Amino acid sequence: MTVKVWTDVTLLTMSENGTPYGMIRDGAIIARNGKIDWVGKASALPELANGADIISCGGKYMTPGLIDCHTHLIYGGNRIAEFEERLQGASYEDIARTGGGILSTVKATRAADEKSLISSAKKRLRLLQKSGVTTVEIKSGYGLDLETELKMLRAARKIGQSSSIDVVTSFLGAHALPPEFSGDAEGYMDYVAGEMLDAVVAENLADSVDAFCENIAFSPNQVERLFARAQELGLPIKLHTEQLSNSGGAKLAAKYKALSADHLECLDEDGAKAMAAAGMVAVLLPGAFYTLRDNRVPPIDMFRKYKIPMAIASDSNPGSSPVLSLSLMINMASTLFHLTPEESLIGVTRGAAMALGLDDRGILEIGKKADFAIWDISHPAQLAYQLGGNACAVIVKNGEVVKFNDS
Ligand code: NIG
Ligand code: FE
Repeated sequence: MTVKVWTDVTLLTMSENGTPYGMIRDGAIIARNGKIDWVGKASALPELANGADIISCGGKYMTPGLIDCHTHLIYGGNRIAEFEERLQGASYEDIARTGGGILSTVKATRAADEKSLISSAKKRLRLLQKSGVTTVEIKSGYGLDLETELKMLRAARKIGQSSSIDVVTSFLGAHALPPEFSGDAEGYMDYVAGEMLDAVVAENLADSVDAFCENIAFSPNQVERLFARAQELGLPIKLHTEQLSNSGGAKLAAKYKALSADHLECLDEDGAKAMAAAGMVAVLLPGAFYTLRDNRVPPIDMFRKYKIPMAIASDSNPGSSPVLSLSLMINMASTLFHLTPEESLIGVTRGAAMALGLDDRGILEIGKKADFAIWDISHPAQLAYQLGGNACAVIVKNGEVVKFNDS
């Protein structure tokens, strides 16, 4: 039995205990066998069993381990040339329509073997981890054929088994129309919702099903066929939608009681009402908003008005969001989307856990996973204020300090 006690720490528990950030000053937390066994004021610490390991945090702050609930971390190649084209005035949609964008990453990902996909993704993952992340969601979607979609999802599962981080996977076969199906989106959707999804489920490779509902991707009617099958199979649903236009995808996702709708820059009030009624989470992706120089801020006041929980994620991907720090997203959610520092931090902890349907993490409470990030900061809002650098001093996963062999 391993018992560890962290003391001399300000806890930002993120639980709704009536204080901002669920803050407990002069706190202490006990982890036993990877779970939180006790949390409170150090002065109220229960008597400790012999052999408990006591660790002083030297007055630092502790939050739940951060959760990055939307990434495309596994891919071949890069999109640096496309970035330069955009700097010269080309739009993300122009590039996608002329066969670049997602499809150029599809080409490189099909050409890469599983081993190289794992090793390049692990490098990116390590950086995300160092920014405080202990759980990450990874999507497929750069294969768009059976073999490569399975290769990506297997790679994601293997990364989860061989790293000190939990990996949650999403099947995103409906990310773009592959060249083999050019002009036949219906036919491709049959393939995704049929043969591909069956194979993914047979190997238990996906924890949820995602799609890209957009004028450069799939229509709500096309996406609905995939959702109907996912629902039959009991798989949770998520959706990239209302990013570049208001296609009504959020309403569709609500009809299928999706966990989340993601991006949402162009969401209207009807869509927000539907999301609220379905208990969905709004996943906001400030890295994509920033990279694409979008100026349509997601309707934050509407999320507040309808009490739609907000999550913040990196959307780490080679095209629209080459982001490798989730703590930077806390800053961007506040500076670009005007979330309060507390809302931004909720977005990468409690809100992100909800967006993945996980109720065993995201807050520091008895019974939850002992996943922590320890921060060298002097005020909670510093997490949103600081731009760059890395204030994350220590990461704890399942009660154990994470050691990186490169540090
Ligand atoms: O979340 N919106 C669609 N998918 C990704 C972009 C992927 C890419 O450009 O490679 C996103 O932004
Ligand atoms: Fe995405």
